[in-house]
Amino acid sequence: MRVFIVYAHPSEDSFTAHVRDSFMRGLERSGHGAVISDLYRMNFRTDLSEAEYRREAFYRRDLPVPPDVVCEQEKINASDGIAFIYPLFWSDVPAKLKGWFDRVWTYGFAYGDKAESGEPGRTMKRLEKGLAICCAGNTMEYFHRTGLLEAVNRVMLQDRFFDRVKEKELLILDGTSRELESRKDRWDSRLQKAFQAGERFFISP
Ligand SMILES: Cc1cc2nc3c(=O)[nH]c(=O)nc-3n(C[C@H](O)[C@H](O)[C@H](O)COP(=O)(O)O)c2cc1C
Repeated sequence: MRVFIVYAHPSEDSFTAHVRDSFMRGLERSGHGAVISDLYRMNFRTDLSEAEYRREAFYRRDLPVPPDVVCEQEKINASDGIAFIYPLFWSDVPAKLKGWFDRVWTYGFAYGDKAESGEPGRTMKRLEKGLAICCAGNTMEYFHRTGLLEAVNRVMLQDRFFDRVKEKELLILDGTSRELESRKDRWDSRLQKAFQAGERFFISP
């Protein structure tokens, strides 16, 4: 499969950067092709302009979409699967990735009356697979106890992926805070999980 990776972490000195590399090695092992958007490195603009807001809020698919957004949409439509790799910041994706959704999931492309959007290629194709790999400082026990697991899962799977992908999964690599022993203790096993996700998740049924 051709897999589009949307990666969002501000530092290479991070566990998440290792996760990205392991995941990509897994993809390679299975012979998948990969294209990556490294949002911080690209300095991807995340704020909606007023013109973009107007296009979305007034459902004006006749208004133009900025070139950097078109570029991301083309990467999606040239792929069979999509993977998001990011750290959990305040129980959600980093603002850099949130802004990517705000700008790239446009009306007529990712939602709304897609069938009538007119221009070929301007409607998002339904992808075979969608995977989110989320690195979280807190432990799974904490996420269960606070109810935050349900929140994190629902927003990613039900709202952002929704029916835009046929098969979807959220993999949380938990307990990665520098304050926890588990960051070091489970470092290798978590990277192994990321490798296996790359190796196995995108294999066609
Ligand atoms: C601004 C900020 C907010 C964070 N918020 C959360 C959070 O809400 N929940 C959580 O489990 N971890 C949180 N973390 C920890 C990150 O998820 C952590 O960076 C991640 O576990 C991966 O480690 P890495 O940065 O070395 O890749 C936060 C970290 C930062 C810098």
